Amino acid sequence: MKFVLKGNIIYATEKKKIITRKKSYVVCEDGICKGVFKELPIEYKQFKIIDYKDALIMPGFIDLHLHAPQYAFIGTKMDLELIEWLNNIAFKEESRYKSLKYAKRAYENFTHSLKNSVTTRACIFATRHVLSSIELMSQLEKSKLITYVGKVNMDQNGLEIIDEKNAEQSIEDTLLWLKKVNTFENTKPILTPRFIPSCSVDLLNGLKNIQSKFNLPVQSHLSENKKEINWVKELFPTSSFYGKVYDNFNLFGYNHQKHKTFKTIMAHCVHSSEKEIDLLKKNKVFVAHCPTSNINLNSGIAPIKKYLKLGLNVGLGSDVAAGNNLSMFEVIKCAIQVSKYYKHFIDANVESLSFEEAFYLATLGGGKFFNKVGTFKKGYEFDAVVINDKKLGLNNNISIRKRIERAIYLNLDNFALIDKYVRGEQINLYD
Ligand code: GUN
Ligand code: FE
Repeated sequence: MKFVLKGNIIYATEKKKIITRKKSYVVCEDGICKGVFKELPIEYKQFKIIDYKDALIMPGFIDLHLHAPQYAFIGTKMDLELIEWLNNIAFKEESRYKSLKYAKRAYENFTHSLKNSVTTRACIFATRHVLSSIELMSQLEKSKLITYVGKVNMDQNGLEIIDEKNAEQSIEDTLLWLKKVNTFENTKPILTPRFIPSCSVDLLNGLKNIQSKFNLPVQSHLSENKKEINWVKELFPTSSFYGKVYDNFNLFGYNHQKHKTFKTIMAHCVHSSEKEIDLLKKNKVFVAHCPTSNINLNSGIAPIKKYLKLGLNVGLGSDVAAGNNLSMFEVIKCAIQVSKYYKHFIDANVESLSFEEAFYLATLGGGKFFNKVGTFKKGYEFDAVVINDKKLGLNNNISIRKRIERAIYLNLDNFALIDKYVRGEQINLYD
């Protein structure tokens, strides 16, 4: 597929830099970006040109952390804190995915919404059920979005209706699930221990073996809430910090036996100790910052600017449904807002995020998990979204930089999304 998009182009090239190009061209050849040009170079003149006139063209947005089954109750029970919220709503709703019929309907709704959002790639938790997780993956595969999806592992400390019978059953189910999903192109499996309190030692050992055998990436939750952290301390009193428990089972970005790194995402890291931060950095673990979730569940605020300055891998996550919105525009806005709170109420030495940094986190920052993704630099995979901010009805006679900031702050997400491309393929919106 060779084509050129014409319009007002916006992309981040590094943490602090957004490039804007008025009425310019961005070129895609076989799923790869060839760069952005003011005048179209002669070698691309034969390519089909799609002229979006005055619309805004930017890289697709990356959601590093969300829960597909929870979309069914998005926007409810937002007055609880983490453990109560899990026990009162999340686990109960997730138990319904035992029924494939229920899962099929609920996941159709979820996939439709994700497809019609500005998100082009995502890392997603399913539930612990094998058939429903396969169903979600086959729906996502058809959507052409690029995703990692995890069948969740959880064999203790939840509710009877949701916990797996034991570690053996959980591991057997995981192996069965892996066997059934290895032909998908766009949708890849990721190992997903729910969080440490949900996993017995036997289960963690079993996951360690699976990770090593299949060289799978891993996603989980880390240091989200103070009660949760104390709980992990009670369960593993000899571990010096929460992340060390994952690390002891080779589930924290590094296989100690094979001396090999692998991709890992840890959501939240709100209360990570200095030692935990050091290990996140050393093992190149991705921190999925989920600001909407953190304020809804009153978990606290993660010091994201500090993580950025230290050179950690950081991206953003909607954490639906603890996050109340699938829109990455909402998450970008909230990341800036909470970083200002952090500076004002928690630590004046930690600067707040600039708009440029938040935009970077939602594109190139999270995109790194998918390798060369998240910008229009030459050689990157071509994901793009096109936004018609004219729909706002405001005066557009302002800079492109201001227009994109306004589109994000006014949450124009699917209201103004007119086209979307993933790895060079156009997505059929609204079907
Ligand atoms: N920790 C364990 N499970 C969950 C979940 O579903 N959502 C959030 N936000 N935190 C968790
Ligand atoms: Fe989560």
